Amino acid sequence: MTLLQLEGVTGYYGHLQALQELNLSVNRGEILAVLGANGAGKSTLLSLISGELHPREGRVFYQDKDITQLAPHLRVREGIALVPEGRHLFGTLSVEDNLRSGASTRRRGTWSLDAVYELFPFVAARRKHRAAVLSGGEQQAVAIGRALMSNPSLLLLDEVSLGLAPVIIRDLYAALGRITAEGTTLLVVEQNITEALSVANYAICLLEGRVVLEGKPESLSQREISQAYFGHDLGPSSKAAS
Ligand SMILES: Nc1ncnc2c1ncn2[C@@H]1O[C@H](COP(=O)(O)OP(=O)(O)OP(=O)(O)O)[C@@H](O)[C@H]1O
Ligand SMILES: [Mg+2]
Repeated sequence: MTLLQLEGVTGYYGHLQALQELNLSVNRGEILAVLGANGAGKSTLLSLISGELHPREGRVFYQDKDITQLAPHLRVREGIALVPEGRHLFGTLSVEDNLRSGASTRRRGTWSLDAVYELFPFVAARRKHRAAVLSGGEQQAVAIGRALMSNPSLLLLDEVSLGLAPVIIRDLYAALGRITAEGTTLLVVEQNITEALSVANYAICLLEGRVVLEGKPESLSQREISQAYFGHDLGPSSKAAS
């Protein structure tokens, strides 16, 4: 069953077209990986879904409702939550207050402070600390927890693993598995191809604002992915040429 559908959506910043006509369908309970290099249009796509950016053309449907013109806070109320690139925590507030700030729009569901602390025990241990003093991985967990506090049906994650150590990335991805087990649909934007494909049911790869490759992770070869990702092959011959 389709939860989210984008039909011919384009994204612009002034005259710059960051996203070409994009069609996308995400099923309930699915994990969609959105891959692509710097500037490919990944965050723009998330902005169009969270409502930070309105498409110049096309339509966004969520639970069969046209939400193209709906404001971001009303989309949170409908169950769409974003974990933004760079986390954007309130550095001077405690971890717990940061988590509570995510509950200002609170839907019914299983997520609460206790449930988030159970998901991320290392966050529970830091609940009274100011968010600014946490490590990058801890902050990322708080950002995910804050988004969960609204009890979303669709969770959008922008580069969760960026700049973090492999051991923390593993913890965060394990948590994502538990979040989907609660019935939440995930859209995972990543430059970390391996990690994203390990959890995704379906993947799309953006290059210069277009989908240049899509499919189930098991059907995509390394070569296809690197070609789609960088716009050229990374084989020995291309190395020799550079
Ligand atoms: N606020 C903005 N104003 C103007 N141009 C922007 C803005 N945000 C993004 N862009 C441009 O739009 C294009 C797509 O950017 P976007 O942030 O969506 O890429 P991305 O795939 O998320 O990249 P990254 O991996 O670096 O986060 C880029 O050319 C970028 O420079
Ligand atoms: Mg981005």
